[in-house]
Amino acid sequence: MKFFLLIATVSFFVFPVAKVSADEQLGSLDRYLSNISMHPTKLIIASGICPQLRKTKKAPSKYLLKKNPLFANAKNIERGKSLYQKNSKPTSCKMCHGIRGNGNGRLARGLEPTPRNFTCTEIMKSLSDGQLFWVIKNGSNGTAMPAFKFTLSDKEIWQIIHYLKRFSY
Ligand code: HEC
Repeated sequence: MKFFLLIATVSFFVFPVAKVSADEQLGSLDRYLSNISMHPTKLIIASGICPQLRKTKKAPSKYLLKKNPLFANAKNIERGKSLYQKNSKPTSCKMCHGIRGNGNGRLARGLEPTPRNFTCTEIMKSLSDGQLFWVIKNGSNGTAMPAFKFTLSDKEIWQIIHYLKRFSY
């Protein structure tokens, strides 16, 4: 009997609390969802902003028309990948442009302008091989994009370009 009394007393206190907290949970889910629909960028962050503003200037014409002299074969793409993901100095590309190339690398937060999102076909198809080559070599003034001409050979830059074009297929 004592046992039932105990259960009855406990449930008297516990159930209303449980009910309130379920309501609260639903309420907070509701607030979360309406927050996302009012701020759609929260969802875009995961996939990268596309199209995004672009601050980088146009390369000089002698660069613009350059074509990638290397074949897009497995060896060149693999080499480009390892440079992009870890071996390029001073900072690997992925730290800003992201492991998946979407512009959301670890250092990207707070950068203005934001690093290029290589998965954005709309922008990437408008940039020639020569434009990409010039920027990687010389950096982009007024942005965080560093020059890699002191640490990467021309060949290595072209290998990276073969790799980063894969992000927008
Ligand atoms: C410290 C952060 C940072 C690192 C590291 C970095 N980038 Fe960038 N990158 C940027 C920013 C910022 C921009 C400028 C975006 C803009 O133009 O608005 C940019 C732009 C670019 C562009 C766009 C050029 C254009 O004309 O729009 C290319 C290509 C690029 N980076 C390639 C690379 C490659 C390849 C590496 C590694 C070898 C690299 N980046 C490393 C931050 C970085």
